[in-house]
Amino acid sequence: MTVRHFLSLMDCSPAELAGLLKRGTELKSLHRQGVIYEPLKNRVLGMIFEKASTRTRVSFEAGMIQLGGQAIFLSPRDTQLGRGETVEDSARVLSRMCDAVMIRTFAHSTVETFAAWSQVPVINGLSDDLHPCQLLADMQTFLEHRGSIKDKTVAWIGDGNNMCNSYIQAAIQFDFQLRIACPEGYDPDPAFLDQAGDRVTLLRDPAAAVAGAHLVSTDVWASMGQEDEAQDRLQRFAPYQVTPALLDLADESVIFMHCLPAHRGEEVSAELMDDPRSVVWDQAENRLHAQKALVEFLLVD
Ligand code: CP
Ligand code: NVA
Repeated sequence: MTVRHFLSLMDCSPAELAGLLKRGTELKSLHRQGVIYEPLKNRVLGMIFEKASTRTRVSFEAGMIQLGGQAIFLSPRDTQLGRGETVEDSARVLSRMCDAVMIRTFAHSTVETFAAWSQVPVINGLSDDLHPCQLLADMQTFLEHRGSIKDKTVAWIGDGNNMCNSYIQAAIQFDFQLRIACPEGYDPDPAFLDQAGDRVTLLRDPAAAVAGAHLVSTDVWASMGQEDEAQDRLQRFAPYQVTPALLDLADESVIFMHCLPAHRGEEVSAELMDDPRSVVWDQAENRLHAQKALVEFLLVD
């Protein structure tokens, strides 16, 4: 049987993605009721982190423990990956010992190469191009707060980064309209835009993007690996801060999301984080439940 990987939202059909969101909510409810559900007893998730993480590491680790399995944290600093062992060889070895492998890395090609040589499912825990696990949590959160996102309008404000690219893929898979407002020179990869066709509109004006929107989402202005550009970006992105006043232009049912970590006073104003329209803490929690649904989908027959 072919091994299923989760490198992008496009690795699942829209029906499978809808199933994952529903299952994430069910697993959340079971967990809150204190029900013990351990279908992954003795199963092991290897987790390679070439970049920092709080949510992704803790949600996968806690999720595997709750499902009866274990997760192993691996960093290039303490493994042979950091001393030049190839991705291909590492994939062949780790996938003989682990039941699935999650990778957070820089070049998206690293995740793809690992998956090509792995005999077990590989999960993209964030690459320079995409962050699909975050979108599972975001879509589950929208569903729980507002129902189906189909035909709704979503505004992405700020950098055309990995999160923005995954929102473009979400627009395709979950069938919503996406308006992106970013400064010139910071557009998302045109390959993703082309794939989305008229589901996605690229704008420069955040107010125009947010007008009538049902979900507004943003992310840091300088992603991991772009630390040298952070000072320049502060100036370039200043008109793109998401504030309560900007959200007032949206639909009255609008909710605000941020994948976190947040830089208050930069991409998001401090007061918006705790505004009643902000669902960022539910969104962060849903990383746990959505990814439990994902590993169950990939590992339980
Ligand atoms: N949102 C997210 O992926 O957070 P971490 O970088 O803390 O994992
Ligand atoms: N765009 C951010 C997301 C962090 C979760 C980054 O890549 O650093």
